[in-house]
Amino acid sequence: LKVDWDVSRSGKGGYPFYMEKEIMEQPQVIAETILPRIKDGKPDFSEEGIPDQILKDCKRICVIACGTAMHAGLVGKSLIQAMIGIHVDVVMASEFMYNDPVVNKDTLVIAISQSGETIDTLEALKFARKCGSPSISVVNVKGASIARASEYVIYTNAGPEIAVASTKAYTTQLAVLYLITARMAMARGLWEEERLLSFMNELQRVPQVMAKVLDTKEEIHRLAGVILNAQDVFMIGRGLDYSILLEGSLKLKEVSYIHSEAYASGELKHGTIALITEDTPVVAVVTQDKLKSKEISNIREVQSRGARVVLLIKENETLDEGEQWSCVYRLPKMDDPFMVMPASIVLQLIAYFVSLDKGLDVDKPRNLAKVVTVE
Ligand code: G6P
Repeated sequence: LKVDWDVSRSGKGGYPFYMEKEIMEQPQVIAETILPRIKDGKPDFSEEGIPDQILKDCKRICVIACGTAMHAGLVGKSLIQAMIGIHVDVVMASEFMYNDPVVNKDTLVIAISQSGETIDTLEALKFARKCGSPSISVVNVKGASIARASEYVIYTNAGPEIAVASTKAYTTQLAVLYLITARMAMARGLWEEERLLSFMNELQRVPQVMAKVLDTKEEIHRLAGVILNAQDVFMIGRGLDYSILLEGSLKLKEVSYIHSEAYASGELKHGTIALITEDTPVVAVVTQDKLKSKEISNIREVQSRGARVVLLIKENETLDEGEQWSCVYRLPKMDDPFMVMPASIVLQLIAYFVSLDKGLDVDKPRNLAKVVTVE
């Protein structure tokens, strides 16, 4: 009798690595993060005890975080600035103290951290509180130091994240930022009821759209083949697309050890385009209607220098006949502000499959720690 059972897979849901299991869990954990915070179709933080006053009165927001959590903050910045119209700074917690931070009672501080123990984020939060800033933390681990040090806490219900490279914690952080944006709009009386309900409906559609992307895992595996043997990879996009590419690029670096850089498409011509040569892989994300034509013209600039472009674009977009794409991945369509959700999953899976196919220890990349408690 031969039992085909690999002990190392137990606890990993049958997947070879926790990272894959955690990527696959996202539809479920996103639902678990948003649904308890929706009452009558509207965002609700009464369980967390967050008074509308602090969402209404703040004149600016300062997000403090590190690594992946900071990249989630960048998406939050785009959402809040576009929809609420107040200024948001996203500050790397490790740099916070060195730039003479200007925070006060009018600054709402949002600290984002999966572990809730990152020392730089904790120290920055404590400093801001001393300056009188109201604070909300977005934390995954119950009772962690950052949760305890902030006035209010919104837990991401991602469950334990074991793989060093963060995936489900990131997208649940994004989910919380959508909820904060919507509640802020409500507290400030900015949106008609119809707009609020339609925003919340779209948010509730995220799990099913993510599941659709996960069903195409093998197609994404083939896409990853384009960069498997690359030395350098560039990732280009604008606005929200750029924010998620910063995270996609970090993921690739972390788990595959391939040098990768995310670049705002419009900045390419100010230097980095010099590095694009024949066959350089470029991952381009185009999900925002208002940016599409500019993004496509930036893509042409790299294509004309021989880049091999992997394009992520909405399913209904038309592309010019005769364009040479190495690969095109069609993302299920959502309203533009939500496109980051399906697109992020594709970027996570690309990083994962490159690492897997290189035979690396995906869950424990060299030199990295899951929790960083030193400055
Ligand atoms: C470490 C981890 C990263 C994480 C960062 C911030 O560097 O390897 O995955 O994004 O810390 O961690 P936090 O727990 O504060 O989100």
